[in-house]
Parts: sequence; C-alpha cells; structure tokens
Amino acid sequence: KKGNYDHFMQKEIHEQPHSLTTTMRGRLKDKSVILGGLKDHLKTIRHSRRVVFIGCGTSYNAALAARPFLEELSGIPVTMEIASDLLDREGPIYREDTAVFVSQSGETADTLLALDYALENGALCVGITNTVGSALARKTHCGVHINAGCEIGVASTKAYTSQIVVMTMMALAIGDDRISNQARRESIIDGLYKLPSVVGEVLKLDGQINDLAKSLIDAQSLLVFGRGYNYATALEGALKVKEVALMHSEGMLAGEMKHGPLALVDETLPIIVIATRDSCFSKQQSVIQQLRARKGRLVVMCSEGDASLVCPGGSCRVIEVPQVADCLQPVINIIPLQLLAYHLTVLRGFDVDQPRNLAKSVTTL
Ligand code: UD1
Ligand code: BG6
Repeated sequence: KKGNYDHFMQKEIHEQPHSLTTTMRGRLKDKSVILGGLKDHLKTIRHSRRVVFIGCGTSYNAALAARPFLEELSGIPVTMEIASDLLDREGPIYREDTAVFVSQSGETADTLLALDYALENGALCVGITNTVGSALARKTHCGVHINAGCEIGVASTKAYTSQIVVMTMMALAIGDDRISNQARRESIIDGLYKLPSVVGEVLKLDGQINDLAKSLIDAQSLLVFGRGYNYATALEGALKVKEVALMHSEGMLAGEMKHGPLALVDETLPIIVIATRDSCFSKQQSVIQQLRARKGRLVVMCSEGDASLVCPGGSCRVIEVPQVADCLQPVINIIPLQLLAYHLTVLRGFDVDQPRNLAKSVTTL
C-alpha cells in the first residue's frame, strides 16, 4: 500500500498533486465552481448573518487558512471555533448562522458534539469531510466531500491541502458575481487549475528540506511566524513538527511578536518566518529585520527570486517557493513544513505514522 515510500505520511505528502486533482475533479467548469453538495443551500448561506468555522487540530487550521478569502468574497463575518472550546463556553450559535464543520474523519467526538449543539440552536450546518458515510456527513444539512482519498498517517497532510481547496471553492460559490470581483475570481480559478502542478514543483525541495532537518535535529524548540493567509501555515507547520517529530514547536502570529515572543529570541532558537509575496510582505520584511537585529537563528520562506531581498548578506537559511494567488499560497507553503516534520521525525528516530500518544481519530471524550 505504501508503494515506493517508507511511510504513509511520506506517501501522502507526495501524492498531493493527485489528491488535489481528485478534490477539484468535476467541480471546476471553465470559469465557475460547482459544488453539488451546496448548490441548493447557497442562498441560505449568503443570507446568513455569520459563518462559524468549527473543527479540531489540522482541520481547524485549514479553516483558518480559508477564512480571509471567504470574508473577502462573501462580505459575511467569519468566526473561528475550536470545537471543544465552543462546548466549554456554550458559546452563542444562532438560527441565522451558517456553522461549517471541518473534519477529515468525520468522526471526531468534539466536532460531532459541537454539531449537535449547533443543530439544537437552529443553525444551518455544513460539513467538510473526507469520509463518505461518516457521522458528520450524515448529520449535517449539506456539505462537501473533499475526495482526497483515504488518509492513513496520523499526521494529516493531504487532507489539509484538500480542505483548503474545498473551502476556497466554497468561497467562490458563495461569493456573489459582482463585476468588480470578476477578474479576482477568474485569477483564483485559474490558480486552482494550475495548483497540482505547482505542488509537484514544491515537492522537489525534498532534498533541501532534508538538509534543513539535519541542521535542526537537536533543537529543543522551534518557532514559526506567519500572518494573514499564512497565519494558519505557521500553526499547522508547528503542529506537524510537534505531533510527529516530538519537538516543542509553536506557530505564532507575526503581528504579536513584539507582545511577548520577542523575549525568546537568541542565537540558538530556530525560527521559521513565512514571508512569501502578498499584501503582508513588507510587514514580514520588518519582522525579519527585527529578528536579525537580535541575532535570531532564521529560516525564511519566501517567493522564488526573493532570497537576497528577505535575507541580505545571506545570514539566514532560505526556502524559496513558487508564488501562486495569495489565497492559494497556504497550500504551497505548508508543503516544505510537512516535509520538514517528516524528515525531522525520521532523523530523530521516532514513529512517523503512529506518533506517541496520538490517534488518527479521537472518537471519545
Ligand atoms: C456527488 C457524488 C459523486 C458524484 C457526483 C456527480 C457522493 C458521495 N458523491 O458528488 O460520487 O460523482 O455527485 O454529480 O455520492 N454532504 C453532507 N455533509 C457533508 C458532506 C456531504 O450533507 O459533510 C452531502 C452533500 O450536501 C450532498 C452529498 O452529501 O448532498 C454528496 O456530497 P458531495 O460528494 O460533496 O457531492 P458532489 O460533489 O455533488
Ligand atoms: C486528531 C488527529 O487529533 O484529530 C489530527 O491526530 C487531526 O491529525 C484531529 O487534525 C482532527 O481530526 P479530524 O478527523 O476531525 O479532522
């Protein structure tokens, strides 16, 4: 089943050009998006007062990655809920809300309990799942199967990128067709068609990332700074490293750097800064400058051709990735971090597919 690969996680990382293709199959027609599972509900969603994304772990992070684009295209406020926290607080959910539940397995106990809670409160409940026939698929009013194929590695990889693509397509389907949006929509749809082949390009960084992993093998801790579309990339990259490589790692919002995290910066703590091209680029450049001024041990992820711009004098390691449409960039940027987590795990001698203490699907409380 693993073919030429040593581990399922490795296979699933490398199969992303294919899984993304199957996720989009039959759902892009010329310059429009067709999601069969949502089409009868789009009007209700467009009229909702708020969209609430609800999930756990990697699925939560995928929703966070898709949030800015959904807000932009729909104009509807989009809020985020970790399923357990919504339940702990018994946070308000209204009839006028659209609650979107994201779960690879469709069987996560916290997410299903939050779904029961949202159903009781009368919200329209939408599922985004990889598992046909799962409890989530059955209990939601409507939804979209991400069709990424069975995911076996406990650390979610291909499901994450397919979830982002589905939620981006959902934003395109919900967003109205205003003429002023037309060029933007078309460039994103064009970007979706090209995405699998660009993902194939990024996977060629495998050897370079293995070298990076070798340099980080003994680190005690790793920070990842991102913002905007790539705040989610920082959280998800750090989650991958902590869950499989068993290394302490935190994803942080770069805009919060001065409000605490900066105190941690020294010459030994490795810090990954995501600084690919988008509207946040110049802010990330100044974050890099401030970290360099404190002699931070930096690894900068930037767009191709920007190495000398983000790191003049070559004093940091650089990962150059191809630039795609801003809202699709998280799909590209997570791949080097998935590879990093994978190689770190192998080098540190831990179990890649069955990380200590973790389960693929947490079906009990
Ligand atoms: C569906 C078929 C697909 C077929 C295509 C042809 C299924 C599972 N999918 O795909 O095989 O090729 O039509 O047009 O038979 N749903 C939920 N909650 C969820 C996920 C999905 O209620 O969490 C519902 C949807 O609202 C929809 C149904 O399940 O009614 C199938 O969803 P999806 O597979 O995404 O729909 P299509 O892409 O149209
Ligand atoms: C578990 C997995 O904790 O559940 C994670 O180890 C996963 O990888 C999380 O992200 C949520 O799972 P699901 O199936 O609801 O997406």
